[in-house]
Amino acid sequence: MALSGALRPGLLQLRVLDLQAAKTQYIDRIGLQFVGEDGDGRIYLKAYDEFERHCLVPREADEAGCDFMAFRVASAADLDSFEKRVSDYGYGVDHVPAGEQPGVGRRIGFMLPSGHRIELHADIDMAVRHPPATNPDIWDEEPRGMGAIRLDHALLYGPNIDEVQDFFEKALDFRCAEKVALPDGMLATWLTCGTKAHDIAFVRHTEPGKFHHASFYLEDWSAVGHAADLIARYNISLDIGPTRHGITRGTTIYFFDPSGNRNEVFSGGYTYYPTDPTRIWNEQELGKGIFYYEKAMNERFLTVVT
Ligand SMILES: [Fe+2]
Repeated sequence: MALSGALRPGLLQLRVLDLQAAKTQYIDRIGLQFVGEDGDGRIYLKAYDEFERHCLVPREADEAGCDFMAFRVASAADLDSFEKRVSDYGYGVDHVPAGEQPGVGRRIGFMLPSGHRIELHADIDMAVRHPPATNPDIWDEEPRGMGAIRLDHALLYGPNIDEVQDFFEKALDFRCAEKVALPDGMLATWLTCGTKAHDIAFVRHTEPGKFHHASFYLEDWSAVGHAADLIARYNISLDIGPTRHGITRGTTIYFFDPSGNRNEVFSGGYTYYPTDPTRIWNEQELGKGIFYYEKAMNERFLTVVT
């Protein structure tokens, strides 16, 4: 097997102000499946094409934002190896016992100098309602709402992103697929642990620990158009789109959940191989890189974070 180590984004725990409103957004509109709740203010959701028990964990809180993002690694041995490498890099590692989230094995966690908590885990139960594995139909139950296929990536805002990129490359074997290089340094980096154009991305920002968006993958460009129809029909707060990124090439639409957390649904994007060079955007073409059709960024996209 070529893929080992960190495999993909596995868990995203988001703070929301109202769980019922979050259920409407993430289940009825984005189309995630309800897996369960554990009575401590967290609900567990999954996308229809994921085998893992859950991926998104909205947690009721007084302030919106992101508690942590967790990557699933290929084996317990990889988890042990990463624990040593993260420690050797100089970051303190803590342990979250198996079962802290139902069905999830032991996790390790650490803080990035951008102010974000990242976790790793090897084990999570297979979902009860998982994609068919024998003579598999394209889906078991017709997708609902926007028809989110999987939790794809997150974009985080914070300081020290040069060190964050170095850490992901050296300690976790991620690679930088694209970056924005300005005269005063790197503005943004898109990091991948597999063959997607990105699994996590960071934008330079003075305030640490900020959350820009959680992104869910859709089937194609027409599904992005259908998402736009739902956003209009149900008066969901729109940020921008449908449009396309130059960076990663995804076709996309951005909107907000009722707590103010930004969501993205997107399709497309290229296949990344570890032999590819890092694609670099400069100041002159940055607008086209972020929004390929508009060739300019909107102020809200740059400044509104939770
Ligand atoms: Fe994104």
